[in-house]
Parts: sequence; structure tokens; C-alpha cells
Amino acid sequence: MRYEVNNSTEQFSLRAKSLKKSFAFGDSKLEVLRSVSLSLKKAESLSIQGDSGCGKSTLLNLLARLEQGDDGEIFWGNKKMEAARKQDAKQIAQRGTYIGVIYQAYYLIPELTVFQNVILPARLNGSLNPQKQERVINLLKKMGVEQKANQIPPKLSGGERQRVAIARALINSPKVILADEPTGNLDEKTGGEVMDLLLQTCEEEKASLLLVTHNPKFAEATNRAAVLRDGELNQIA
Ligand SMILES: Nc1ncnc2c1ncn2[C@@H]1O[C@H](COP(=O)(O)OP(=O)(O)OP(=O)(O)O)[C@@H](O)[C@H]1O
Ligand SMILES: [Mg+2]
Repeated sequence: MRYEVNNSTEQFSLRAKSLKKSFAFGDSKLEVLRSVSLSLKKAESLSIQGDSGCGKSTLLNLLARLEQGDDGEIFWGNKKMEAARKQDAKQIAQRGTYIGVIYQAYYLIPELTVFQNVILPARLNGSLNPQKQERVINLLKKMGVEQKANQIPPKLSGGERQRVAIARALINSPKVILADEPTGNLDEKTGGEVMDLLLQTCEEEKASLLLVTHNPKFAEATNRAAVLRDGELNQIA
């Protein structure tokens, strides 16, 4: 079943309507997203699978407004944005509180401690306060890595690094978490543990989760599952 944007009045944290994106490729054009629509309810999780190169990361970049699309609309809650339009300063600031991102390669800052890494998004949007500092510790506890708070990331295992990256993504209490193959660098067991923590914490925090994964088992663990193929998103479960 092809995904359609939901126009009902139900509360959605993230919606996309007819997203299109192509890349110039010599004289020709590579059409990556032909028409992608999706609706993610508050606190709901959706997995996206698809062959390598089908456009999963491109889709997440468009949804986070890190990349411009060719056409289509994106809604962060009720805020509507034209995907083809360049984002303005207000959107850049809003992204910091509305969306948290998690990548396969963690992207922690190696010179900063775990604590400093997790609190960084709060510093960047000017919301640093004692409650946020407490929240860092609580999130690190939830992730089971509070004893690493003063350690630097190069001294952590891959699984520990991703737990820290999840805490960082959640620090500003975003409504949406975009996770791009968060277990791609981890072995099956560690990946399973990280995935359990990610799903559980998003639920507790009432954050919606869009999970890109190549692992069918993890894809099944979300509320709904979809496949991106030939530039379109189709629901499979
Ligand atoms: N900035 C860019 N310029 C040109 N082509 C690009 C650019 N970004 C992505 N592409 C192309 O778009 C297609 C989709 O890339 P994307 O990274 O979204 O795939 P993916 O589904 O995330 O793959 P993987 O599972 O390997 O991560 C690929 O063919 C890629 O080469
Ligand atoms: Mg990718």
C-alpha cells in the first residue's frame, strides 16, 4: 500500500507530502525520491527499509531540512514548509528543539567528554540551565552509561558511543527522532540492546521515531514498517 499523507485533524508530529528529489548526474538526472508521503503520529515509530542507494538518507535529510528537495511539503507538527525552499534562520533554530538525529557513525566530538557532548545541543540553542544538566545525567543513566560521563568518546565502545549519541539526540526533548542505521556499526547483540533502549526511551519521552535500518528484525520492532523502492514509500506492516 502506497503511503499517503494524512490530512485528518489527528495530532501528527511529522508529515511529508509528495516529496521529490533528484541529483544532477553528468548530463542526466538521478531521480531518487519520486513522490514520498508519510505521516507519523505523536510517539509513534516507523521503520524504513530499502536497498542501498534507494534514498533513505536523502529522505531523512529532507525531513530534517538539512537538504533542499525539488518539490513537496514537510510539516513539523502544524508548521508547513516547502521542501524546495531554502530554510531560514528560524527553521534552523527550531530544528534544534524539534528534531533529534542519530547516525550510524555516532558523530560525537572526540575532544569533549560524554557529558559535554550530550549537553552541547542545549548550549547551542541557549537553553543551558541546572535542569538540563540534571537531564544529561538522567538520560545517561537511562542509557546505562552514566559512569562514563567524564570519559571521552574515543575511549568508549561502539555500543556505548551510540548510547551517548541517543542521549544527545534527546537532550532538548525533541518531538521527532530521525535515526539513520543507528546499529549499522554494531554487532547483532549490541545492536539489539541499543535498539531496545532507543525504542523504549522514545516511547517514554513521547518522541516519534523514524528508523532507517537494514535489519528486518529491528524493522519489525517499530509500530509500523515501510519500504522505500523506486522513489516511493510503501507500507508493509
Ligand atoms: N549530494 C549528492 N549528490 C549526488 N548524488 C547523491 C548525493 N547524495 C546522494 N546521492 C545519490 O542518491 C542516491 C541515494 O543516496 P542515499 O544516501 O540517500 O541512499 P541510502 O538509501 O541512504 O543508501 P545506504 O543504505 O547505502 O545508506 C544514491 O545513488 C547516491 O549516490
Ligand atoms: Mg544511507
